Amino acid sequence: MRLGRLTRRQVVLALLANSALAAACGAPQGGRGVPVTFRHGVASGDPGVDSIVLWTRVTPSQPAVIEVEWELARDAEFTEVLAAGRTATAQEIDYTVKTVVEGLAPGQSYFYRFRSGDARSPVGRTRTLPGVGVERVALAVISCSHFSFGFYNVYRDIAQRDDLDAVVHLGDYIYESSADETGSGYGGEQGRRLGREHDPTHEAATLADYRARYAQYRSDPDLQAAHARLPFITVWDDHESANDCWMEGAEAHDPLTQGPWDVRRDASLQAYYEWLPLREPEDGRPLYEIDRRYDFGDIASLYMVDTRLTGRTRQFSYSRDLVYIHTPFDFSDPDAPRAIVDAQDLALIPAESVRHVKTPFDTRGETREPVLDYARIQQFEAEGLPPGFEYWPDTQRTREEVLADDARAILSSEQEAWLAQGIDASVEAGIAWQVLGSAVVMASMPAPDYTQVFPPELIADALADNPYTQHWLDRTRYGLPISMDAWDGYPKARERVYDMVRDSNADFIVVSGDSHNFWMNKLHDQRDGRIVATEFATTSVTSMGGYEWFGDDPRIFELAEQTMTRECEDVEFFDARHRGYLMLEMTRSQARAHYIGMDTIVTREYTAKTLASFTLDKATGGARAPAA
Ligand SMILES: [Fe+2]
Repeated sequence: MRLGRLTRRQVVLALLANSALAAACGAPQGGRGVPVTFRHGVASGDPGVDSIVLWTRVTPSQPAVIEVEWELARDAEFTEVLAAGRTATAQEIDYTVKTVVEGLAPGQSYFYRFRSGDARSPVGRTRTLPGVGVERVALAVISCSHFSFGFYNVYRDIAQRDDLDAVVHLGDYIYESSADETGSGYGGEQGRRLGREHDPTHEAATLADYRARYAQYRSDPDLQAAHARLPFITVWDDHESANDCWMEGAEAHDPLTQGPWDVRRDASLQAYYEWLPLREPEDGRPLYEIDRRYDFGDIASLYMVDTRLTGRTRQFSYSRDLVYIHTPFDFSDPDAPRAIVDAQDLALIPAESVRHVKTPFDTRGETREPVLDYARIQQFEAEGLPPGFEYWPDTQRTREEVLADDARAILSSEQEAWLAQGIDASVEAGIAWQVLGSAVVMASMPAPDYTQVFPPELIADALADNPYTQHWLDRTRYGLPISMDAWDGYPKARERVYDMVRDSNADFIVVSGDSHNFWMNKLHDQRDGRIVATEFATTSVTSMGGYEWFGDDPRIFELAEQTMTRECEDVEFFDARHRGYLMLEMTRSQARAHYIGMDTIVTREYTAKTLASFTLDKATGGARAPAA
C-alpha cells in the first residue's frame, strides 16, 4: 500500500526499528507508556490453507508509536500457543494492526488475540481453508451493509452459527453517502431515527473521511462479533469509494469540485486495506488489484474479482447513450421536407436528399403516434416538447449499437485471462464447483413495464415527492436492462464469461450482491438459449430494498416478484422484501443455497427465517440444470 511512497510493510518495519532504537538508548519506549484501548474488535480473513491475516486496531490516549503483540493458539484459553509475534502501528496507518500468520494446518480453527501494555483485545476465532478431502464447505454470502438503514442482525445471526467456514462479503461494506439530505444523503432519515447517523455527516471523499467511516462501522458490536467469529473474504463494490464508480470515475464523483478521481479512489482503497483483514497488493502494484482465488479442497474454487476499478468502462447513461427513433425525410424540396413512411419510397429518393430526423411521439392517446409534420418537429426542437409528447428510444438499436459494443467491459482483458485460466485450472484439478464472487448481478433482467404493473394509486404517495423514482419507473417502459450498472449493461463482457465457462466445461455458480434483493437465476446464454450457470444473488444486510422506493404496501413487492419471475427467462426466484444473507453449502456432489431473511432490522430483536432453498446436483446437470 502506498503511503506517500512507503508501503504499509515499510512503515511497520520503520516503526519497529525506531521503537527498538529508542529502547536501546534508554529513551521512553515507543508507545509503551501510552495506554491504549481496543475499541474496534478483532478480525481475520483472506485465508489460505496454511495462513491467515489477523487484524485489530488500537486507540491510544495520545499520538504515539504503539507496539502490539499477538498470539495464536489452538484453544480459546491459549494453553497451547502455536505462534506469537510483535508489530507496531501509528497514525500513518490509522493505528490499524495487521499480521499474516503462516505455517498453519488446513481446515483448522484457531484462536487469536492482541496485547499492548496492559490492554488486551477480545479473543477472535478463525479458520484456514480446508485441504483436499474435506467433506463439506459452508459460506455466508453477504453484501450492502449501510450502517444507517438498520441494526446488523444479519451479522449477529452469522456470528451465532456454528456451521460456517467463512463469510464472503461482496461489497458495499461501507457507504460513502452523507447523512443529510443534501448530496448523496442516502439513509440519512433512517439513520437519524435509529441513532445510526453516518459519521462524518458529509459524503466521504478523503482518507480521513473514509477512515472515520470504517471506524464507525467497526464500532458496531454485531459486526465485531461476526469478524471475531469467522474469517472474511471480501471484495469492494462501488460504495467503498463512490456511487457507480468505474475505472476512470464515478457517477457520484465530480472532478471539478472533488479533485482527480485517482486520488479519491486511492484514498478509499488505502482505508479499505487498513481496515479489512486482507493482504495488500505487492509493492509497486496498483491498489485496485484485489483479484484472488480461494480453493476449498476439491469442493470449490472461489474467484473474487474487482468489477469496478480495474477494467470497467463507463455505465450506460439514459441521458447520454439512448439511440432515439428517427424518421427519414425527403429534403428534395428544402422548404417542404416530407416524411418517408414507406420503405419502398426510400429507395427511390437520392441518398443526398434523405435526412434522418429525431421523431417526437404523441403519447396522450391509446397508442403512441409519431409526429411527422416537419415544421412542428422543428418547433418542438426549439421550444421543448409539450406535455404528452416524448422522443422514444429505438431499443433494438440501443441494444445492438451501444450495449453490445465489444469495448464495453466489466473486467479488464488481463482479468478475463486470469479468470479463464483459473477456471480451467480448477476444472482440470477435479474441483467440483467454480464459484464467481461478483459484486453485481449477472442475470439478464429486461425491465417489465412497471407503469402497467403497479396500479397508480398504490405508488402515488411514493412518487409525489421523488422525481428519481418517477424517472426510474418511466424508463421501465423501454424494456431495457433493469440495471445498467450490473452485467446486464455489459452484455458482451458477460458473454465472454459465459464463453470461459463453456470452454472449460465448468460447473459454474455466480454469487452476487448489490441489488438489495434475493434472486435465484438460471443464466441463459442469449446466443443459443442454453443454461450456462446458476446465480445465487444475495440481498442487503441492511440497505433499503429497491422496491421500497415505491412504498411499503406488500402488494408492491408481490407484483414485482410475480412480474419479474414471469417475464424474465433467467429469474426463477425473487424476493423483494427481506434483508438477510445467503448460506451456500457445498459438497462434491451438491451445492445448496439457503436464502435467510430477517423479519426486521429496525430493532435488535429479530427472527431469521429460511425463505427458500435450492439444490444443484452434480448427478442431474449441476449448475446447468433447469430449475427443479
Ligand atoms: Fe448496495
